Amino acid sequence: MAGQVNPFRPGAGHIPPYLAGRKGESEEFRRLLKQDVVLENMVITGLRGVGKTVLLDTFRPEAIQSGWAWAGDNISESSSSSEERLAIRLMTDLAVITSTIVIGEKEFLGIGYRPEKQLVEQTFDYDLMWSLFQSTPGLVADKLKKVLESAWRCIQCTRRRGLVFAYDEAQNLSDNPSCNEYPLSLLLDVFQSIQKKGIPILLILAGLPTLFPNLVGARTYAERMFRVVFLDHLNDTDTRDAILVPLREFPVFYRTVFGVFVPEIIRMSGGYPYFIQFICRELYDVQPQVHDADGQQEVDFGFPVPDVIRKLDADFYAGRWARTTDRQRELLSVIAHLDSADEEFTVREIVIKSKTLLPKPFRPSHVNQMLSTLANAGIVYKNRHGKYSFAVPLLRQFILRQQHA
Ligand SMILES: Nc1ncnc2c1ncn2[C@@H]1O[C@H](COP(=O)(O)OP(=O)(O)OP(=O)(O)O)[C@@H](O)[C@H]1O
Ligand SMILES: [Mg+2]
Repeated sequence: MAGQVNPFRPGAGHIPPYLAGRKGESEEFRRLLKQDVVLENMVITGLRGVGKTVLLDTFRPEAIQSGWAWAGDNISESSSSSEERLAIRLMTDLAVITSTIVIGEKEFLGIGYRPEKQLVEQTFDYDLMWSLFQSTPGLVADKLKKVLESAWRCIQCTRRRGLVFAYDEAQNLSDNPSCNEYPLSLLLDVFQSIQKKGIPILLILAGLPTLFPNLVGARTYAERMFRVVFLDHLNDTDTRDAILVPLREFPVFYRTVFGVFVPEIIRMSGGYPYFIQFICRELYDVQPQVHDADGQQEVDFGFPVPDVIRKLDADFYAGRWARTTDRQRELLSVIAHLDSADEEFTVREIVIKSKTLLPKPFRPSHVNQMLSTLANAGIVYKNRHGKYSFAVPLLRQFILRQQHA
C-alpha cells in the first residue's frame, strides 16, 4: 500500500477516479449531437456537488470526437453583468477556436530590419471579431449574431459539423431591468435566431436548480428550447461502483475494508458524489495508519463516523452556515423539522410549523423575504411551482446536527 496515492477526489470540478452512473445523461447528449438542425439544447442542473461540472467536462471530448468544435467557460457574475460583457465572453471563447483559422492575408508593417509592408496570414481572431462586432449596425444582439454567423462560416471550412457553446455556473446569468441590461434574454434570443437559420450551434448550460426557472422567466420559449437534465444523487449500485471501481488495482485489503463499509458510505453520503469522494478519501487516509501500525493484512477496523461527519461539516457546510444570521438559522431549523424538508416546502408550511416551535413565530411576508435572501445566498431555491427546496444536499441533517451540537 505504501506509495499508493489516495484515489478519491473531493473537490469542485475534480474528475473522479471513476465517473459512476450518468449513462442516460451521456446518451442524451450524444442524441443532441446528432441533430443537423439544432432544435434542442441542454440544461444540466442539480444541487451543489452533484457532478454537473465533471459531467460537462466528459461531454467535451465526446463532442470533439463527433466532429463538433467546443467553446465555453464558466459564467461569472461579472461576465453576465451587461449585454456587451456577455457578448465579449462569447467572442473570447469563440476566438480560441477561430484564431487558428486562416481567412486571408493582411498587410503588416514590419519593424527593425524590414520596416516595409509585408503580407501575413489573417485569422479570424479576437481583434477581427471585435471590429466586426463594432461595425455591425444595430443592437448587441444584431452584432453578436453577425459575429457568430461569420465565425460559423469560418469553422465550417474546417469540416466541423457544428459548434457547441458550453457554459458552467450559468445560474449567474440574469437580466437586470434596473440597469436596462438583458444579457440572459440576449443569449436566448441570439441562439434561437441562429438555430432557426439552420446554423448548427448548440448551447449547453450547467448550473444550480435556479438556472432553468431563470431561463423560462426571461423567455417562455426557453421551455421548448432546452432538454433539462436534472442530476440527482447516484443510486446504490452506482454509488457502490464509485467507491469500489477506483480500488480495482489496489490490494485486496482495501477492497475488503471499503466493501464492508459500502452500506454505511451509501447511507452517510446519500449517494451524493461529492460526499462519496469525501468520505472515501477520509476512510482511505485512516487505513494505512491502522494497517502499518498493526502490520497485519486483517485488521478489525471501525469506521470513524463522527470524525468524518465533523470534517464534512467543517469542509462543506460551515462556510455557508457562517454567513447566515441568527434569525435565518431559526428559519432553517423550522424548515428542517418539516416532514417534507428533503423535498420541497412552502411559506405556509413554515409559518404553521414556526407556531409550534418558536415563541416568536414567523409571519408569511417575513418568510417570503428571508427565503429570497437565502435563495440569493445559494442555500434554498424556488422551483417552477413556487415551492422551495434546499439547494445544498443533505442540508436538513446538517441543520439538525447543529441543534444537537
Ligand atoms: N458520477 C460521479 N461519480 C463519482 N464521483 C463524482 C461523480 N460526479 C461527480 N463526482 C465527484 O463529486 C464532486 C463534485 O463534482 P462537481 O464539481 O462536478 O459537482 P457540481 O455539481 O459541479 O458542483 P457545484 O454545484 O458546486 O458546481 C467531485 O469531487 C467529483 O469528483
Ligand atoms: Mg460545478
